[in-house]
Amino acid sequence: MTDTLDRKTIFHCIRTSLYAVRVALNKEREDLKVRDVWLAALLHDIGKAKIPKPILNKAGKLTAEEMLVMKTHARKGTEMLEGRLPAAITDAVLYHHEIIDGTGYYGVSDKDIPEAAKIIRVCDVYDSLISQRPYKEPWTKDEALIYLWENSGTLFDPVYAHILCREVVRDFRKKICSYR
Ligand SMILES: [Fe+2]
Repeated sequence: MTDTLDRKTIFHCIRTSLYAVRVALNKEREDLKVRDVWLAALLHDIGKAKIPKPILNKAGKLTAEEMLVMKTHARKGTEMLEGRLPAAITDAVLYHHEIIDGTGYYGVSDKDIPEAAKIIRVCDVYDSLISQRPYKEPWTKDEALIYLWENSGTLFDPVYAHILCREVVRDFRKKICSYR
């Protein structure tokens, strides 16, 4: 057991938080505070510090037993933060692997998933897809965008998935326009 987060997880959390802020800024809701979304996204995988490194860094598919251990990171992270941060943040950490069709870690579905957790999920998956992992090569941004788009409304909240896709496309456009 270890108490430190590895470098890759830390950078993944930072990138996820930056995407999440952009999505949150594009969606005005009274129950959505951009600061809370940012902080929850930054801390969403903090529970991985409590996951044994051989499981965390395994270069292959996890066994069913290992998967159960890996899935505890959402609850462990929440336990590390409870009492220190508002419930809006700890709940988003707890539910960041929930899927709107109810097939996520705890089987919580659409209306019961905190909005911040829905945003984090979209951004978390996008960054994971385009990143190198011990068990997979990075996808291209195009492939990841198509995946988000095609699965919005089932695996991802459609509003937040579309906002993230639009933001990423906007970045492409800015890059293309800068070539003169
Ligand atoms: Fe996670």
